Order: sequence, then structure tokens, then C-alpha cells
Amino acid sequence: DPLRNIVVGMPKAELHIHIEGSLEPELIFALAQRNGVSLAYSSVEALRAAYAFTDLQSFLDIYYAGASVLLTEQDFYDMTAAYLARVHADNVRHAEIFFDPQTHTARGVPIETVITGIWRACQEGPISSRLIMCFLRHLSEEEAIATLEDAAPYRDKFIGVGLDSSEVGHPPEKFARVFDRARELGLHLVAHAGEEGPPSYIRNALDVLNVERIDHGVRCLEDQLLVDRLVSEQVPLTVCPLSNIKLRVFDVMGKHNLRALLDAGLVATVNSDDPAYFGGYVNANYLAAFEALDLGVADAKTLARNSFTASFLDPEDKRKYL
Ligand code: HPA
Ligand code: ZN
Repeated sequence: DPLRNIVVGMPKAELHIHIEGSLEPELIFALAQRNGVSLAYSSVEALRAAYAFTDLQSFLDIYYAGASVLLTEQDFYDMTAAYLARVHADNVRHAEIFFDPQTHTARGVPIETVITGIWRACQEGPISSRLIMCFLRHLSEEEAIATLEDAAPYRDKFIGVGLDSSEVGHPPEKFARVFDRARELGLHLVAHAGEEGPPSYIRNALDVLNVERIDHGVRCLEDQLLVDRLVSEQVPLTVCPLSNIKLRVFDVMGKHNLRALLDAGLVATVNSDDPAYFGGYVNANYLAAFEALDLGVADAKTLARNSFTASFLDPEDKRKYL
């Protein structure tokens, strides 16, 4: 299948990947054993069988449980090295990787352990990567501000901040001050918006938080004025097709709006979100969407190009890929 070969073989960037969501069940069990952490599941198979989600929150509950095995710098290193090696095989040339420090500091793991472990793996390749620190939106803005301060000694190890976890009920404007502070520090700004939340969350992420990209953003199509703005400002959307099906944002891949997003002129990209939980890494996301939506070679080229134009690579680095 020539289209398949093009999609698989083309150089691409991944811009929406939570490193804790790359933790495969086998590694969760290995780290649990290494660290003497007990799990609520008796086997890899039993854990995998629990990956039946009904919405974002039902996923997050299991995702945070899986992350509880991460204790040492080596654990964070091993998780990150495994992800980078895996997506190198998908011809990912550059990854902008989310991490959730509060998931770990809440369990007593120092932020230094988290950042240093992940960062050290990123330094070693085999691909280019950058880190984006996410605030958990179900927690308070005060806690997000404390996390940003906690991370200040490691300012050179991450390029931006994001906003993830439970969306509905935790609108962007809840985090206005911490995003202002991050902007003063010269950090790039992104936020999850319009995954389960309404189009107004996308608008407020732009107007109140001043984000440069929207993570997910698929619900923008419910608001034509917002679509017009996203197109005219060329605001990238980091779309995650398999995630959207597993978390029931769309019933089936044939109902996904990726093609409509592209046809509207939006700067859509394809990403894996939490590949260990949603059934595949970035190429699996491309292939599932391409098959169900009857996308073609021109779409593949557009999506690969978008993944680099939407990245935070320096213009000179971008040019190498475009
Ligand atoms: N949405 C919100 N929070 C998350 C996600 C997501 O898709 N993945 C990991 N944390
Ligand atoms: Zn996400």
C-alpha cells in the first residue's frame, strides 16, 4: 500500500504526547517490582483489560494509578528513553513532550527527580525533543504557581507550559495568573481546550492565557466564528485521533472531524496523546484516521508539514524539515 508507506515513512514531529501516557503495562509492572510498589492489578493482562474508558475522567483515574510506580530519576529516564526509541521507529524526528510534575510531587517525588530523569533521556536522543511542563487543571492555580516556582531552578530544561487533566469545570481563565508569569519567564504557552470542553474554552485559552497552540481543539467546529479566527491566525491544533475514540469524543473513527478540520484550512496535526493507553503511537494514529476518513497523499504531506510548522523549533531548524 503506497499511501501507507508514505504515511509511515515520512519525517514527522509529535507535539501532543504525555510522557506518563507512554508508560506501557509491562514497564509499569517492572517498575512496580523494582520499587516495591503494589498495584491494584494482578498482571499485565489484568491492567490492560482495565483500559476500557468511557470519558476523560475514567482514563485519568487509571493514568494517575499507572504513574504511581515512578519514584526514581532512573524510572523517569527509562520511561522517556523507551518513548523516544519507539517513535524513532515511527520516523518521528522531533517531539515536544508533556510531563505532569504535580502527579509526582504529590507523592513526595522531588521535582528535580522528575525533570532531571526525563531531560537526561531527551539529551541522549535518538531524536530531537523538548519538554513542556503541564499544570493539572483539577488542582488550584495557587498549586500551579507553586509548581512553576519549584521548577524555576530547571528553567533551562523545559521550553513551555501547558494545561491538562479534567477539562470541564476547570476553564482556562482559572489559570490566568500562572500563564502570565510563565510568559514573563519567556516560556511557550499551550493548553488543552475543546476536547470535552466547549468552544468558549478554546477562545479563552487564546484571549486569557495567550496560548500559541491548542491541544485537541476538535470542538472548535461547533463555532464558525472561532474557526474563522483559528484559520486567519493559523493557530495549530494538536489532534489525537485514537484518544478521541477511546475517550468517546467521537463514537467511531469514521465520525472523527480531522478531515473537516483540514478542509476548513486549520493547522491540524496528528499526535498520540497517551499511546500506551489509547492503542498506538503516532503512526497508528495517522493510519487509523487515514483509513476511516479516506485521506490521501496530499493530506499526509499537509499533516507532516503542519507538525513542523506548529513546532517550537527555531526557524533554522524548522527549515531543515520543511
Ligand atoms: N486530556 C487531558 N489531560 C490529559 C490527557 C488528555 O487527553 N492526557 C493526559 N492527560
Ligand atoms: Zn493530552
